[in-house]
Parts: sequence; C-alpha cells; structure tokens
Amino acid sequence: MTDVNQSPRTILTYGTFDLFHIGHLRILERARALGDRLVVGVSTDGFNATKGKKSVIPFEHRRDIVAALRCVDLVIPEENWEQKIDDIRRHGVRVFAMGDDWQGRFDFLAEYCEVCYLSRTPEISTTAIKTDLEPERRDHLEAVTREVG
Ligand code: CTP
Repeated sequence: MTDVNQSPRTILTYGTFDLFHIGHLRILERARALGDRLVVGVSTDGFNATKGKKSVIPFEHRRDIVAALRCVDLVIPEENWEQKIDDIRRHGVRVFAMGDDWQGRFDFLAEYCEVCYLSRTPEISTTAIKTDLEPERRDHLEAVTREVG
C-alpha cells in the first residue's frame, strides 16, 4: 500500500512562458516551494492557435527553457483544456497551482487535489514586453530617454 505521506508532494502548473521573464521564474519557484516536485505543462503552438494566440518563441524552445530550470522537475505538453484531470492522476499531483489571474477558474479540480492560486509578479507580462518592443513605443522610449538624459 502506498503511504501518501512518504510519496513526493507533486505540484502541477501550466503556462505558455513566451519571452521567458522574471514573473515566469518567480511563479515556478513559488509553485515548487509548495512541495517536492514540480511538473509544468507548457502550451503547444497548436493549442495556442486554438485560442487565437501565437507565441514569438516556438514550443520546442519554450519547453527546453522551462525544463532547464532548477525548480522544474518535468515538462509535459499542454495540448488541450481537457487534459488536466488525466495529468493530475498520471503524475500523482497533490497541488494544482496557477497565477491569480486565473482565480476561481480551476476550483472544479479540488475534487482531485488541492487548488492554489499564487500572486503574480506586478508590472511584467509577455504582452507588456511585446508592447514595449513595438516601433512606435520604442520611439517614445527614446524620446523619454533623451529628455531625461
Ligand atoms: N505570471 C506571473 N507573473 C507575471 C506574469 C505571469 O506570476 N507577471 C504567471 C501566470 O499567472 C501563469 C504563468 O506565469 O501562472 C504563465 O503565464 P503566461 O500566460 O505564460 O505569461 P504572461 O506574461 O501572463 O503572458 P501574457 O501576457 O501573454 O498573458
């Protein structure tokens, strides 16, 4: 018989992790600190396409970057909305963790494991990085820098 107290406390989270930034690192570190083992579902380009999203960095690169982190034990592909219960069972997950931008959206998983929403790092996101890189925004930044300089 498996003694649940002896088995590793496995945490599961998901994300796109495009243009990997400090908010991504912090949430993965916080998720890992909830237990002993962190499994991360990285969304595939195909899954993102069904949501009308296209990442700058392709899936294979996003997957390899996340897998290289010290706080991450295993990366799995996130290919659809329905796989979460299977993933929880397959990987013996005890805690499902997501950023609090998803607050309440995964409460239905509480039947299978603990559900935990972690606070986001303020003032950074993939969307904000993309906006800052837009040419008109760069001109604005250069003008501001000249004024300051
Ligand atoms: N995240 C975070 N703090 C941030 C940005 C993201 O904690 N400042 C978390 C999200 O809550 C999520 C995970 O990182 O649990 C992956 O988020 P993802 O959607 O890939 O990153 P975003 O930067 O939020 O991307 P976008 O701007 O495209 O929504």
